[in-house]
Amino acid sequence: MAPNNPLPCGALVIGAGAAGMMAAARAAQGGGKVILLDHEREAGRKILISGGGNCNVTNIHADGRPTLHGVERYVSRNPRFARSALSVFTPQDMLDWLKTHSITTVEKEAGQYFCQGTTESGAKLLRDALLHQCHQSGVQVRLGCTLMALEKKQGLWSACWRDNATGQVFESVAPHVVLATGGKAIPKLGATGLALEMAARLGLEVVSPAPALVPLVLPPEAQGTTSSLAGVSLEVCTSLPKGSVAAGVKKAPTFKAGMVFTHKGLSGPAVLQISSYMATPQSAVLVDLLPNDGTVEQTRQRLENIVAARPKASALALMEGLPRRLGQALVQELFDDRPLAAQPRTALLALVERLRRWVVQPSGTEGYTKAEVMRGGVATSELNQRTMEVKTHSGLYIIGEAVDVTGWLGGYNFQWAWASGHAAGSAV
Ligand code: FDA
Repeated sequence: MAPNNPLPCGALVIGAGAAGMMAAARAAQGGGKVILLDHEREAGRKILISGGGNCNVTNIHADGRPTLHGVERYVSRNPRFARSALSVFTPQDMLDWLKTHSITTVEKEAGQYFCQGTTESGAKLLRDALLHQCHQSGVQVRLGCTLMALEKKQGLWSACWRDNATGQVFESVAPHVVLATGGKAIPKLGATGLALEMAARLGLEVVSPAPALVPLVLPPEAQGTTSSLAGVSLEVCTSLPKGSVAAGVKKAPTFKAGMVFTHKGLSGPAVLQISSYMATPQSAVLVDLLPNDGTVEQTRQRLENIVAARPKASALALMEGLPRRLGQALVQELFDDRPLAAQPRTALLALVERLRRWVVQPSGTEGYTKAEVMRGGVATSELNQRTMEVKTHSGLYIIGEAVDVTGWLGGYNFQWAWASGHAAGSAV
């Protein structure tokens, strides 16, 4: 039962993750009373485990602009939507923010910035700094609280919520409510589909959600080979053949990065990245196992030269440049015990295809339990791109991963969380 006397406040932020903490701290700087609510007993749990404990907090290229090749770095039905918020609160602004909170960052490859730990992990320093800023700005942080109802009454948003520790039920009324409950990835860290359910209830369009930045699972017949290769890693290029690209993606990129064989299939940055663009979890993926070997024709020529120069060698001689276990597995799959000169040319041609145009046909992905993010979410057409306010429901804002804006691996998703949180926090 809700209490008789509702507690008025200036803004209620639901979800104390990356975007919610940024939004609440920013909103409270305006002077109004802000309540930040989360059903978990600890704020920012995803921040704590991100970047191997050092949180890849931003990426200098996360400014909403496409690459030099015209490829968007955010997957969305409207990738340009994110530009406005990302250009107001930029990666440099986040780096400056970290500096004012005495958090040192290190740049790793491709503009990725990580928080540097001291006696505590860099990710914990960041989470604590966000919470500290919330407290310092006067935000009332209410953790371990379940939202029971949210509705608009006489022009104000009314939220009914229960403190799970005491069982007490509260009603807060506010002109502004920020939904920052993230996506569905990693439920054990508190992820729920609340924002999507709420959006659907309010009649907002939701772009079908799916696990993204997620490892691929191969069918049982292929798992025999891949599980024996578990742990083998190499640099590859991943891309999608026509028909595998998710609807609405204008230009699907190619990712040159690491790939690792797992017990279930394939993972590593090149695989996680391409997974965000797949039409379905079963869509075919193209893998180039030798991306530094020139053209496919040059690889064929190079292998034929080896056969001509070393006719008595075993087929293993063709596996130069590959990890040893992978080379052995390919020999077993495509060749017999005879020396190179006795092998059929079709085996060599099959090897060229396998090395340069391996068509991986996954049986699915590892799903939300292993996905780094959720793709899809509340359609950007429902939101004001400067403030994140829902066009048809004044005073309601939706930010972070709940929105149909999914970044590349490498700090792009946190930067979207900071930027969209800053946009909503400034507007309320
Ligand atoms: P986020 O998920 O952070 O926060 C949502 C909050 O809402 C949570 O605190 C949750 O408990 C709360 N909540 C959910 N449902 C609720 C309900 N019903 N009632 C009340 N509260 C509710 N990105 C990146 O850029 N660099 C990186 O290094 C990484 N690393 C990384 C590692 C791993 C393992 C994962 C899973 C993810 C990453 N990410 C990442 C992605 C990044 O964590 C993600 O994009 C942001 O956390 C999204 O921020 P949000 O605030 O939108 O959601």
